[in-house]
Amino acid sequence: MQRTLDVGCGVNKYKGALGIDINPATAADVLCDLDRFPYPFADASFDSLRAIHVIEHLTDVIRAMEEFHRLVRPGGRVRIETPHYTDFSSFCDPTHKHHLNSFSFRYFGPNDAGFGYYTKAKFREIFVRVRLLSFWRCLGLELLVNTFPRFRRFWEHYLCYVVRGKSMEFEFEPLGPAVPAGRPTALPASR
Ligand SMILES: C[S@@+](CC[C@H](N)C(=O)[O-])C[C@H]1O[C@@H](n2cnc3c(N)ncnc32)[C@H](O)[C@@H]1O
Repeated sequence: MQRTLDVGCGVNKYKGALGIDINPATAADVLCDLDRFPYPFADASFDSLRAIHVIEHLTDVIRAMEEFHRLVRPGGRVRIETPHYTDFSSFCDPTHKHHLNSFSFRYFGPNDAGFGYYTKAKFREIFVRVRLLSFWRCLGLELLVNTFPRFRRFWEHYLCYVVRGKSMEFEFEPLGPAVPAGRPTALPASR
């Protein structure tokens, strides 16, 4: 049986998953503040983890990603969904602390966008899917963005303030050893 952790599960907890959330009015099985580390589970406790419209609410994205990395077994899956920063919802909700685009998680990729010092937690990207506002989807632009990575980059750089995004879905596989749960947020300088 798959062990799935639904992080910030809200009221619509994923079927069969263990839900965690800060709010007792949700379907959470475990109440937990995702801005406090470590989360109350042992390393590699889960086969998969879902964070659906949650990461934008958290204070420390890097530290949360390190926890996701620690909690999911090697070969497991981490699924993240979050608004694109050009969507109405991204800036409308006053509890959103982050406004992301479809390249925001490249810092956790094996080549870390040249910012390897952000974190040691690395993930392999299984897929990124962008949803556009329905008008642009009907014109076929969503298909282009999702089929051609170079077009997605072009869209992010030049078009997205007009051809606005809606939401993004990411799936990752944790790579390498887990970052220990008790590590300080800042990496020690290596000289
Ligand atoms: C927009 S809702 C999404 C709920 C659910 N994942 C869904 O897709 O329906 C964001 C959820 O994150 C939870 N949340 C926000 N900040 C949190 C924190 N610091 N610790 C734990 N949960 C938090 C909220 O209580 C809420 O249930």
